[in-house]
Amino acid sequence: MVAAAVDPPWDLDAWRAPARAALRAGVAPQDIDWTGDAQRGLLAGADVVALAPLRAAPAVPAAFLSLAGAVLCHRDPQRHALLYRMLWRIADGERALLERVTDPDVHRASVLAQAVRRDSHKMKAFVRFREVPGEVDAFVAWFEPDQHIVDRVAPFFARRFAGMRWAILTPYRSARWDSATLAFGPGGQRADAPGDDAQEDLWRTYYANIFNPARLNTTMMRSEMPQKYWKHLPEAQLLPGLVREAGSRVRDMAARAPEPPRRRIPVPAAPAVVADDASVDALRAAARECRRCELWQPATQTVFGEGPEDARIMIVGEQPGDAEDLSGRPFVGPAGKLFDRALAEIGIDRGRLYVTNAVKHFRFEQRGKVRLHRNPEVAHVNACGPWLAAEVARVDPQVVVCLGATAAQALLGRSFRLMAQRGTWQVLGDGRRAFATVHPSWVLRQREPGASEAGYRGFVDDLRLLLGAADAGTAAAVAATTSPSLSVRGPAPTRPARG
Ligand code: URA
Repeated sequence: MVAAAVDPPWDLDAWRAPARAALRAGVAPQDIDWTGDAQRGLLAGADVVALAPLRAAPAVPAAFLSLAGAVLCHRDPQRHALLYRMLWRIADGERALLERVTDPDVHRASVLAQAVRRDSHKMKAFVRFREVPGEVDAFVAWFEPDQHIVDRVAPFFARRFAGMRWAILTPYRSARWDSATLAFGPGGQRADAPGDDAQEDLWRTYYANIFNPARLNTTMMRSEMPQKYWKHLPEAQLLPGLVREAGSRVRDMAARAPEPPRRRIPVPAAPAVVADDASVDALRAAARECRRCELWQPATQTVFGEGPEDARIMIVGEQPGDAEDLSGRPFVGPAGKLFDRALAEIGIDRGRLYVTNAVKHFRFEQRGKVRLHRNPEVAHVNACGPWLAAEVARVDPQVVVCLGATAAQALLGRSFRLMAQRGTWQVLGDGRRAFATVHPSWVLRQREPGASEAGYRGFVDDLRLLLGAADAGTAAAVAATTSPSLSVRGPAPTRPARG
């Protein structure tokens, strides 16, 4: 007998190394004692990775590796041996093994993989983050998966909640995301995660309001939301009461005389309700309730601008994307990352800029699980116009940079032609200096060889206007924002005359 250790026991590379060594040394499946990391050191046999290879490693079908990646996340202690037996058979000439669905090994592997996929799906659906008291934008979730799926599922949360700092704790493993890097560590206990937070009351109120007793289907509910996950869900506490009352609520609804349809949401004239001297925080709070167009409905939240209230440079994008909608912060997704890279290249600290969008809600089209960006219409830009105007008035930047045609036309007029006029100084109606450049998403969409790099270089060159204007002494306002020390705050310089 030889020994093969897999550490961590759910990891494909950790299993592949001994499996490959065993195959190359010609060790038959029945001669290997597979173990996870827990029993390492108790094994009597020689370590399989130390055996001398007798033959070259055979090519393994990609479908087998993909299946193995899922199977390894199952807790079944026989999974390593099962996979090695399958690998041995494939290498021995059964190249089409995976197509033989009635084969006992293939069947067992697909049962395990299916259980892992189901558990992964449940984790994506039922993880609930709670805000860490006393910290800003830091969230922790407690979850008890059936299988070893944390490493497999954590990248999903990193993509979904890219702009947040979060941790997911489970009994066997934890995952941490600091808004840039994903790291894994040991497991924890439920008490390590915060309990209820204020947002859960909000969520429960919302859930109770959208719960439709007439559509209650408890069988479906139980299969979609198995009881063992209820402990993770704030709304679960409400369910017994809502289910109990559903029958009488439906009878009441049927007995009530029909009412003429009402306009569901009154449209307040925001931001007229906000005082002229309102702070950015007050504007942001008021914008949360904005119903000036229909975009608020499918969106997760209003994404208002952020940055120092006395910033000298204001950046205006088009509208939040998927990552921004989920995190509530502008330019944190792929376009934001490219923007950050360009700023770093020219030596400007993003923390000193006020970054916002012409439209404050994500406009998208749902395609299956994916939300595809849709350009905002003029009506959406106009509806959000008062918010942008209020931000410009409050922050009072010396220079406004428009990223893309939507922002440029919102601020510089519908006749502004981005590709013809990009990278040239313009003057806003109130005398403020501005220029427009392409949107970073446009740069990301350039796929032709060379076009992507050229697009990026052009974008960076346009942004360099922030630096060059000072050198050329073009405008005191810009000089103040782009002095060699790149101070983007400081005493307000004189604004150039209206143009
Ligand atoms: N694109 C934008 O225009 N704004 C964002 O905040 C993100 C992507």
